[in-house]
Amino acid sequence: MKIELPEVHEIDLVKVMYERRSVREFLGEPLTLHELSYLLFAAYGVTDERGFKTVPSAGATYPLEIYINVKDVIGLDEGIYKYIPEEHALLWLSEEEHSKELALAALHQMFIAVAPITIIIAADFYRTVSVYGERGYRYVYMEVGHSAQNIYLMATRLNLGTVSVGAFYDDEVKRILNIEEEPLLLMPVGRKKE
Ligand SMILES: Cc1cc2nc3c(=O)[nH]c(=O)nc-3n(C[C@H](O)[C@H](O)[C@H](O)COP(=O)(O)O)c2cc1C
Repeated sequence: MKIELPEVHEIDLVKVMYERRSVREFLGEPLTLHELSYLLFAAYGVTDERGFKTVPSAGATYPLEIYINVKDVIGLDEGIYKYIPEEHALLWLSEEEHSKELALAALHQMFIAVAPITIIIAADFYRTVSVYGERGYRYVYMEVGHSAQNIYLMATRLNLGTVSVGAFYDDEVKRILNIEEEPLLLMPVGRKKE
């Protein structure tokens, strides 16, 4: 049996879903702090008083940590930052930005070196695996996908471009960022070259 579904209308979210595309060519222009704020809220922002977030999480274990390599954001010093969802704030971890090193660690995907920011989604697997055992691993990977899609959709809504980059040397990225968690996805974001 085939059931005809009603037509989807051009509400804003549907339009954004249509327009979402992976973008790998960026203009060398800065982002604003406003744009960064929206992107990070989408990635892992807190949406209620229990600490629940924009992203679904198995058992609300929230294994992800969001880092940002800031190369060029108006009103923000360059460097490596960590997003603190509970305060919707940034923690400045390092004064040096590493976009070129990240591009090299990602098998020479040099568009990463051009983008004004790269969001790095990392995970502390223990938070979820300690609750769900082996199955927790797949839950963490699912959650990264939820967060990445939110970033994609928000970037599209802001008329910015991004791409999920999964091809990189884990150890290299860990060393560059000086982090304990496992980096799972890099998402350079910038203004699109038309
Ligand atoms: C897990 C994952 C890893 C990816 N890794 C890369 C990558 O390393 N480099 C890249 O340029 N694109 C990467 N992509 C983007 C895909 O190439 C892209 O999503 C696909 O070509 C479909 O195009 P669209 O996103 O514009 O619909 C990745 C996508 C996913 C979901």
